[in-house]
Amino acid sequence: MTQRADLPVELFSAENIHGVAELAKRCFSTPWSEDIYRRELENPQSVGFVCTDGGKVVGMIHCNFVLDELTLNTLCVDPEYRRLGIAKRLWNAVREMMQGVCTVCYLEVRESNLPARTLYGSLGFVQNGYRPRYYSKPEEAAVLMEARL
Ligand SMILES: CC(C)(COP(=O)(O)OP(=O)(O)OC[C@H]1O[C@@H](n2cnc3c(N)ncnc32)[C@H](O)[C@@H]1OP(=O)(O)O)[C@@H](O)C(=O)NCCC(=O)NCCS
Repeated sequence: MTQRADLPVELFSAENIHGVAELAKRCFSTPWSEDIYRRELENPQSVGFVCTDGGKVVGMIHCNFVLDELTLNTLCVDPEYRRLGIAKRLWNAVREMMQGVCTVCYLEVRESNLPARTLYGSLGFVQNGYRPRYYSKPEEAAVLMEARL
C-alpha cells in the first residue's frame, strides 16, 4: 500500500483537472473555476502539479511565468493530508522544472494565513511587500513574498 508520504506527484492533465478544481473549492473561499484551470492546460506559460491518492487529487500547485518571473497562484492540500510534506514536495516539483527558466518566484498570501506563511518561509520566501484590503471574503491584507529559484 502507498504510504501517504510517498503519494505520487504528477503534472496537471485533462484527467486530473476536475479534481484540481474540486480541491480548490474545498480549500479556498474564492476558488478558480474548473474552466479556468482547464484553460491553463493549454497555456504554455503555465505549470501545475497534483498529488494524488488512488486517483483523488489531494494536493495541487499552479504557477504562471513570464520571462524569468514565476508567480505562484495556488498551493493547497486536502485538510486530511496536511503536515505530510505534500506542499513542500509540490513546490520542489515546480522549482526543479523551472530552474534555468526562471530566476525568481512571487506570491501573495493572506496576512492571517500563518500555516502558509510559515511554509513559504521554510521554502526560502521572504516578505517584499504588503497590500492592505487586497482580499475579499473576508477582506484582508496580502503579504507579498519572493524567493530566488
Ligand atoms: C498551507 C498548506 C498548503 C500547507 O500544506 P502541507 O502539505 O500541510 O504543508 P507541508 O506538510 O509541506 O509543510 C511543510 C512545512 O510548512 C510549515 N507548515 C505547514 N503547515 C503548517 C501549520 N499549520 N502551522 C505551522 N507551520 C506549518 C511547517 O514548517 C512544515 O514543516 P513541518 O511539518 O516539518 O513542521 C495547507 O495548510 C493548505 O492547503 N492550506 C489551505 C490553502 C492555503 O492557505 N494555501 C496557501 C494560500 S497562499
